[in-house]
Amino acid sequence: MRKITVIAGKSSEELAKSISKKLKANLVTSDVRVFPDGESKITLDGKLSKNRIIVVQSVYPPVDTNLVHALSLVSKAKETSDDVIAIVPYMGYARQDREFLPGEIVTMKVLGRLFKGAGAKQIIVVDIHSMIGLKHFKIKTKNVSAVPDLAKYFKKMRLKEPLVISPDQGGKNRAEEFAKEFGSDCIALTKHRDRKTGKVQIKTSKFDGVKDRDLIIVDDMISTGGSIIKATEFLKKQRCRRIFVACTHALLMNNAEKKIRNAGVTKIVSANTIPGKTSIVDISNTITQAMK
Ligand code: R5P
Repeated sequence: MRKITVIAGKSSEELAKSISKKLKANLVTSDVRVFPDGESKITLDGKLSKNRIIVVQSVYPPVDTNLVHALSLVSKAKETSDDVIAIVPYMGYARQDREFLPGEIVTMKVLGRLFKGAGAKQIIVVDIHSMIGLKHFKIKTKNVSAVPDLAKYFKKMRLKEPLVISPDQGGKNRAEEFAKEFGSDCIALTKHRDRKTGKVQIKTSKFDGVKDRDLIIVDDMISTGGSIIKATEFLKKQRCRRIFVACTHALLMNNAEKKIRNAGVTKIVSANTIPGKTSIVDISNTITQAMK
């Protein structure tokens, strides 16, 4: 059998190791040295073959640095193999998938060109913000869902009359998928984000059905925590019981975890697309299965 190689980018070392183990692949790790001017020098610790090479590198902050690392690893892999798959568990820039305001650059279009140009034959992402982003890639693409793994985690918890909540209409399908796996109903709030200031408001007016119930807010990502905090404040006013958050990508910028807890969230559970304290749901198996 032709042996696969997995290259572990610095941002996804643990996940790459698990994927490599499950695929019985050769693991090649990378060492990164950062020069005083901010440039990275990446060195691989092993040889690459002409067989399939899988690069695993998430693009979370520092987004541009991790992106250049991902592209560099893909480019290096392409020097020996024509079968290069880029696994980008968290795809930074995914929210910049269309021109919301005149003159805005659709960065996902740029990324589509860059990954193709670097030599990726296929790109695999996890719970991308919207499928529109992947339409800009002119290579094979796959979006893997962490929702079943997240739902499985919550199934083991003892919750009182649980109900799943989407903080906005855009995430309704994802929350419904979670609710189906988990076995409960689902409600989607209506959120408004000011495109210039980034400020979030919940537009849903008062509704019944959450009083004294445990709620699970399901979202693709938490960045500043603004969406979750506004949804939590609204739901608390409806006199719900506890609030939990299930999300795939926990960026948790600017002390967001503390702010979310202070707003009244009992627990945040995220997938290991971004390593961190809340990243307790492992998706290596789901990613490996998606490649078969
Ligand atoms: C937006 O529609 C997304 O699904 C997330 O709700 C949002 O990007 C999270 O960002 P933040 O935590 O800054 O509100």
